[in-house]
Amino acid sequence: MTQHADGIAPHGGKLIDRLATEAESKEFLEKADSLPRVQLDQRALSDLVMIAIGGFSPLTGFMEQADYETVVTDMRLENGTPWSVPVTLSVSEDIAEPLKEGEWVRLDDESGRFVGVLELTQKYRYNKNHEATNVYRTDEEKHPGVAVIYQQGAINLAGPVWLLERDAHPLFPTYQIDPAASRAQFRDRGWKTVVGFQTRNPIHRAHEYIIKCALETVDGLFLHPLVGATKSDDIPADVRMRCYEIMMENYFPKERVILAINPSAMRYAGPREAIFHALIRKNYGCTHFIVGRDHAGVGDYYGTYDAQKIFEEFEPGELGITPMKFEHAFYCKRTEGMATSKTSPSTGEERIHLSGTKVRALLRSGEMPPPEFSRPLVAAELARAMKTS
Ligand code: ADX
Repeated sequence: MTQHADGIAPHGGKLIDRLATEAESKEFLEKADSLPRVQLDQRALSDLVMIAIGGFSPLTGFMEQADYETVVTDMRLENGTPWSVPVTLSVSEDIAEPLKEGEWVRLDDESGRFVGVLELTQKYRYNKNHEATNVYRTDEEKHPGVAVIYQQGAINLAGPVWLLERDAHPLFPTYQIDPAASRAQFRDRGWKTVVGFQTRNPIHRAHEYIIKCALETVDGLFLHPLVGATKSDDIPADVRMRCYEIMMENYFPKERVILAINPSAMRYAGPREAIFHALIRKNYGCTHFIVGRDHAGVGDYYGTYDAQKIFEEFEPGELGITPMKFEHAFYCKRTEGMATSKTSPSTGEERIHLSGTKVRALLRSGEMPPPEFSRPLVAAELARAMKTS
């Protein structure tokens, strides 16, 4: 694994920083009223932020066609660097038509606030079905990631971007630890090996089990819940973060764990997204990344361990971050603890299977998840949140 002055090397070798300098901001703001505008939805805005803070290194902007095509077909940028999910800015033909290649485009958020600039180097048409079947392994519109492709515009706008300002997160400012900062924190704590954990669900016992198994073998844990756009029936980020705070207070050794938010949006691309999630955590400075059962999956689109198998499609060491793969964990009545089929001889009814989906279903029907599912303090917080929502 390549080492770097600040721990593990970022993907592509250099941590990207696309935050506008003072001089650039001044120039952009002076031109603000004369530039053509494009409005970013929540996902595109979070992509802009991730590019700017280096979370998507080596990307410096929205993908040009050559990168886009090779990412979709081969999981690589045009220069061969592994990359598994397209990062594109798709707009309608009406919006794209008046924009000229070579000019600056003002990027606004949904409220009309000027947030960034795109140097438009290319506009191109793309094949939605091809993207869906390659990246999501299905073209069914009921898949939430595929639905986004079919709803978005037909033209991709590409080119380098600048973010005008890195705003503090409105809900979780103290947990906003960007890649340069997380790398510095790992270094200051003397952590040589750090495992990253991606999650979009309220923490349950199976999560806790695999996290702690991983933590037994490395110096530190980077708990990195995703707080960008998720599908409407996922538990909101503020509720999930409160559950993590409870865990930090009561069940994790604070000196070995850092809790931080991942601002990006869920794609629900299963295996492809597991690679994407790992590369993002590499940019944050993690050396290892947890991939459990049906990572980033939705419905039954992916096999239980497809998101683990996909790592074998790359040469050893090529991704520059090591996946830590875990089997489906459950509460085992025979051994009275969490286990997997690797560690417990139990069968059938002796195993209580847990998942975010099951916890959500229980909460929706007004039931408290049992202690085999969730820590009671976490269950109480979830139940409280359900009542007030
Ligand atoms: S995800 O969409 O972010 O993957 P979730 O928050 O449920 O969803 O999962 C976070 C991580 O925990 C993923 O790596 C997932 O594979 C893993 N995971 C979730 N539940 C289990 C389980 N019961 N056993 C093993 N791994 C699990």
